[in-house]
Amino acid sequence: MHKDYHIPIPSLLPTPEDYAQAEEFILPAIRKEAERFFKENGPKFDKVNIDQNLFENWSLANRIRAHFKELDLELRRFCVFVGAAGFGSNASPHVDAWANDIPMISRLNVPLFGYKGAELMWWNTYADDLRIEVRRFHLYDPVTGEEYNAFSYLSKSGQTWEAPAFSVKDPGPCWNHVELCHKLSLVGTTEMRVNITAELKTQIPWVDLVQRLEANGYC
Ligand SMILES: [Fe+2]
Repeated sequence: MHKDYHIPIPSLLPTPEDYAQAEEFILPAIRKEAERFFKENGPKFDKVNIDQNLFENWSLANRIRAHFKELDLELRRFCVFVGAAGFGSNASPHVDAWANDIPMISRLNVPLFGYKGAELMWWNTYADDLRIEVRRFHLYDPVTGEEYNAFSYLSKSGQTWEAPAFSVKDPGPCWNHVELCHKLSLVGTTEMRVNITAELKTQIPWVDLVQRLEANGYC
């Protein structure tokens, strides 16, 4: 049943070498961007823009690229999500966006920090759930220094969400079925969450992804 929502990939657990390289190459930029983001938006959880070049030679990024290759998937880009420790009481169910008006089907997540105390929850509905609304807004990209159009599917305020159909606590590296309504709670976390995610250039149905993971012995 968990295969409908979430496939753990323990082989992508960050190693001491991955952490050491991250401290050197990428974490200073992430912390700087997180600080700016929290100052502007308060203690939240969201994507921050990081220069893709920083992922070029990082050991963990290389393992993620190799994982995509063995699954015959094309990588669109790495993204970084940061979350304030303990955030979650007002986290909302949502569906990830892949492009304007197109939901994202799956996302590979590799949390570096802030996974203890985190909880992922899913509901068995999609972007057409009547409680979900489309939001269009502008975001600032510190890499290019320009604003760009952003798009999301987010729960309208004041909606009632029943108990989730599936949930997982302390999720490590994993593929997540993000075209289903889902939510991340960081209520139980005690450190800032830093989550590296890898997006697909060409989307495939979730069942196809699961088949490829099965064929490679991941589930
Ligand atoms: Fe999401």
